[in-house]
Amino acid sequence: MNPEQELKSVADQVMVCTDCKLHASRKLAVPGEGPANAELVFIGEGPGFHENEQGRPFVGAAGSFLEELLASIGMKREQVYITNIVKCRPPGNRDPQPQEIQACSDYLDRQIRTINPKVIVTLGRFSMARFIPNARISAIHGRAQRVGGRTVVAMYHPAAALHQPSLRRTIEQDFARLPTLIAKAGQPAPTEQAPPANIQQLSLF
Ligand code: URA
Ligand code: SF4
Repeated sequence: MNPEQELKSVADQVMVCTDCKLHASRKLAVPGEGPANAELVFIGEGPGFHENEQGRPFVGAAGSFLEELLASIGMKREQVYITNIVKCRPPGNRDPQPQEIQACSDYLDRQIRTINPKVIVTLGRFSMARFIPNARISAIHGRAQRVGGRTVVAMYHPAAALHQPSLRRTIEQDFARLPTLIAKAGQPAPTEQAPPANIQQLSLF
């Protein structure tokens, strides 16, 4: 399968997935969207109200802010891949539970392996924890971390940053560093190879 077909295959499976209890309350699963050759992958927490209605990630207020942040570095959302650690909406936007994150992790692993991005940006604590367990976002936000041969940058969640002036300035500054981080990031392992061992391990919590 070529990368486009592989992403389509993941999405097709996500749309009918019943591997955790979130399937029961969803309207539409939200697999993620963007080009298979994206240099940047953004990983949010989980679909909210609007995402659940439309089946697309980051289409509400947090999504508009994300688009604004991308524009500030001369990028459009069509150039990046955007997804979440859980693909179905947690009821009432509650936190995703560990067993839900675990049940959904293989889809995210396959997306990352297929896209093989230069930089992964985690948005919020839950997606950060999947790559960098026990880190404090206040200590590591905006800084490149090497995880399993990949470059991961943790950022605050745009929904939180949108309404808090100090966090908003912080996420704007962290975005401003992204072009340099992309340029610096070495090419990760080729897609044909097995995924880096500790990405697989990290997805086992
Ligand atoms: N917040 C998220 O974490 N993900 C979305 O897709 C939308 C809002
Ligand atoms: Fe399947 Fe993930 Fe949706 Fe759970 S959240 S039902 S594992 S796609």
